[in-house]
This record gives sequence, C-alpha cells and structure tokens, in this order.
Amino acid sequence: MGDDFDFNYIKYLRAKEHVDDRVLYGPAWERLGDWLAESLSDGRSAGGAMSEPVRVLDIGCGIGSVFYRLLPVLLRKMRAREDVSTWRPLEYVLVDVKRANLEEAVNRCSAWARAPVADDAAVEMWRVDGRTGDSGDLRNDIHGATCMHRAMTGAPTADRVVASAHLQLPVHRTLWQVHLQAWHGDACQYCAATPAQAHVLIAAAFFDLFLVDATAVPADDTALLASVLHCCLQALRSGGLFYFPIHYNGITGFEPTLPDAATCTPERQLLERFHATMGAGTRGRSGDALRRLLAEWQGTHRPCRVRLLETGRSDWRVVPSAEGGEYASPADAYFLRCILFLIASTCRATAKSEADMRGVDSWYRQRLAAVDDGVLAYTAENVDMLGVLERTPD
Ligand SMILES: C[S@@+](CC[C@H](N)C(=O)[O-])C[C@H]1O[C@@H](n2cnc3c(N)ncnc32)[C@H](O)[C@@H]1O
Repeated sequence: MGDDFDFNYIKYLRAKEHVDDRVLYGPAWERLGDWLAESLSDGRSAGGAMSEPVRVLDIGCGIGSVFYRLLPVLLRKMRAREDVSTWRPLEYVLVDVKRANLEEAVNRCSAWARAPVADDAAVEMWRVDGRTGDSGDLRNDIHGATCMHRAMTGAPTADRVVASAHLQLPVHRTLWQVHLQAWHGDACQYCAATPAQAHVLIAAAFFDLFLVDATAVPADDTALLASVLHCCLQALRSGGLFYFPIHYNGITGFEPTLPDAATCTPERQLLERFHATMGAGTRGRSGDALRRLLAEWQGTHRPCRVRLLETGRSDWRVVPSAEGGEYASPADAYFLRCILFLIASTCRATAKSEADMRGVDSWYRQRLAAVDDGVLAYTAENVDMLGVLERTPD
C-alpha cells in the first residue's frame, strides 16, 4: 500500500474542518446561530440577577471544529444587537473519547483569541496532566467506536475533565463570558449522567459511527443507532435544539473514471465493500437512517418527541483548482489522501486473497497518483439536521 502516507488524525480533522466549512447546509447553520444569539441575549432575569448560562454540549467533538466555527458567527450576531446590554454566559462542553483531540481543541483557544474577530479576547486555560489511553486504531478513529455502550452509566467525574478555558470576548462595552470544558470519555455515559441540562446538543459526523455494533450483529443495524441517539438526547432539555451536521449518506464518487485494468479491483466494487462494512442493511447511509429515526419520533411520545426544523445536504466536494494540477489548499489534498487511505485499508482488511489485496493496492496507488497530479475530484453525500426536542426521553 502507500506505506509512506502518514495518517494523522488531528491533521485529518483539521482538513475535514476546511471541507465542512464550504458545504454545511446554510439554513440549519443560520437558524442554530440565530437561536443561540437570541437565547444569549436574555442576560438579566426580571429581578435583575444574571441569567443562567446557555449550555451547549458537543459530543464526539473532535478538535472543536464546531465551537471555533460558531464563535465568530455568534459574535457577529451579538455585535449587531445594540439593544442588548448583558449577555448570558456560554458554557460549551466538548466530549470525546480521544484525549489528544480534546487537548488540541482547548489549545486552539489562544491562537483563536488573536484572530481579528476575537478582538483581543482574554483567555485563561487549565489543563490536567496528560495521561495516555487513546486507541491508536485507525478504524476506531474514523469509522468505528467501540467504547460507546461499554459504560452507559456512571457520573462524569472531575478527573475526566482534561482541560478547560475561560474566554472573555468584547461585545460593545461588555465582556461576554465563554467557559469551555473538555471531558474525556464516552458520549453516552456523559449524556446519561447529565440529563436535561443542555440547551443545545451538537453531534457532527458522529452518529455515522453507530451503524454497526463491533461486538454484536443486530438484525436491524439501525437498532444501535436508535439506542445511541435516544441515550444522547437525554442530555437535552425539553425545547432544546439538536444539530447533527455532516452525516454520510453512503454515496461517494471519484473522477476521472479509471480505465479498466486486470490488475486493479473495479472502484465500484471497492466502494460497495467499503459501505458494506458500515452496516449490512444501511450500507453507510447513516444520514438517511438518522433522518428516518427522527422523522419516526416526530409527533410520538416514545421514546421521545422531536420536531425536525431543517434538513439539507452538505455534500463534500473536493476538486482541483480551475487551472488543474493542484488543489485550493494543501488541506484538500491531505483530506483526499486520508479518504483514499481509509477506503483502501478497509478493503484490505476484508480482502479474501493475495490477488484481491493486490487489486486494492493497485486502485489505491492509481488514485493517490491522481491526487499528486492534482486531477482527482471527489464527492460524498452528507446530510445535516436541525431539530427541537419537544419532550425529553422516557
Ligand atoms: C468523524 S469524527 C468527528 C469530529 C467532529 N465532530 C467533526 O465533525 O470534526 C468522530 C469523533 O467522535 C469521537 N468518538 C468516537 N466514539 C465516541 C464516543 N463513544 N464518545 C465520544 N466521542 C466519540 C472520535 O474520537 C472522533 O473525534
């Protein structure tokens, strides 16, 4: 295989962040920002006391991409409101099973505070001394999560908070307080232990991980997804918003088409094999599976009642620049190499013979060469969803 490719998960998430930035479904993203800005504007209760913080929980947060994308949007919306004199604090909790992701997420604060939009925000950070314990398994990183459901109960304890930061951001004549906390562990465990506390639940490119149970083979491979979704929604208050962007829909395309060659496994076959590892029935269509579940839970009381507000596509599209021969940024090229690496390593892991293995490697080498030449175009179908939890889970 392309043994010289150095897959680095944090670098992958950085590259993915750039690709996501371009494609998020606008109406859902705008509505989330408007809803949050409006909630934050309610800075004083009738008695004059400071209102409680707005709580956002971001599960499977990676390196905090949604947080850093959201802050400038909120600042812009808040700075447009001359009529508000006191803003509610924002409490933003990041949850991830990979400690290194969380450390990266919190460490980004200082650099972010120097961005023009931050307007010289003040930042204070705390870190708990590093311990290892992350999985180094690529499939677990990108594609599967073995930890969920191992521990569905148990309170989040303070030693699992690996880092936190306090930002003070200038909004007109006031300082808006933002508390960022990074909790290391399983999202379901966190949600079960903090019921009905979050005003907003965010899960980006997260539920894709739960179409297949690593330890069991459910007859219906959305059963695990349903139970994880139900578990995570517990964290949300009635009337709170959930935002689930970038859920893959089992469709990938590459261009230009590869010429048929006896030595190379046909791309269509490889993609079918790749998708088959994401669930026998759903074949990677997690966006549709998630949307169907949420649609089923609309208007019913069990297991909880939700209402979908916005649903739309956020297809990844990474194409060479107009002149060809290169990509708009090195992040695009790195992202493509990661996607090819993931498909090739998944297909290698399920190869039935040496010849099959060589066929996968031959495909991989040709597609990598197309990235090096700046000619490979890639698209993948994703879905974003925004909704409201009308009644908390039973
Ligand atoms: C595809 S990444 C998405 C990261 C981020 N939300 C984004 O969109 O850039 C999935 C993330 O979920 C994390 N993860 C996997 N299983 C998890 C679990 N059971 N609980 C919490 N986080 C989990 C992974 O470590 C990874 O950071």
